[in-house]
Amino acid sequence: MDGNGRWAQARGRPRLFGHHAGARRVRDVVEACPDLGIKYLTIFAFSTENWKRTQVEVAGLMSLFRRYITREARALKDRGVRVRFIGDRLRLDGKLVVLMDQLEEMTASNDVVHLTIALNYGGRDEVARATKRLAQDVAAGCLSPDDVDEETLPRYLDTHVLPDPDLVIRTSGEARISNFLLWQSAYAEYEFIDTLWPDFSAQELRRLCTSYGARDRRFGAVPA
Ligand code: IPE
Ligand code: MG
Repeated sequence: MDGNGRWAQARGRPRLFGHHAGARRVRDVVEACPDLGIKYLTIFAFSTENWKRTQVEVAGLMSLFRRYITREARALKDRGVRVRFIGDRLRLDGKLVVLMDQLEEMTASNDVVHLTIALNYGGRDEVARATKRLAQDVAAGCLSPDDVDEETLPRYLDTHVLPDPDLVIRTSGEARISNFLLWQSAYAEYEFIDTLWPDFSAQELRRLCTSYGARDRRFGAVPA
């Protein structure tokens, strides 16, 4: 969800104004998913690198996350959205983590759309944490190094219950991955679009889905 800061700056407003506008876009996008056949949606809300921002912006974002969860919980539950969080919770404020746990729990039986919110998430950090737990299992004797293959590591990733992404959309004109779902996106299709996140719409998501549908995904094989 990139481009909130520039969207606000273009209006002569503080960056947090853009983050609030960006948060409001999430609802429309989630609501558009069932119609578009999107069962799993993952949004990148805060990266392990975003702590480098000013204390004012970080604190504003954290308070926005608490407000978002509190405000949206009922609607998410009622619309059949199952919410999960990925990322390292250890560095997050305890009060926020409680709200995250509660939202996961209260939506746990939903199945219309699976919304995953990446919060204090970094692909490298995720792989490092997964490797640590994998190594602990080896040390404890519950896993043999000979049994470690491509199927093993994903079981330790935060996303272990989720399918790999088919399409990754990055807004705001930046053509880079920025540590998002590194392992999981090995064969994802990418869309880099100029739209700033607060201007993103269900209509644009529909257009991108249509274009995705016309792509020829070969996963390394030759065309049929
Ligand atoms: C939102 O956009 C990303 C978050 C960390 C919430 P940015 O804050 O990166 O916006 P730009 O890139 O400065 O425009
Ligand atoms: Mg940015």
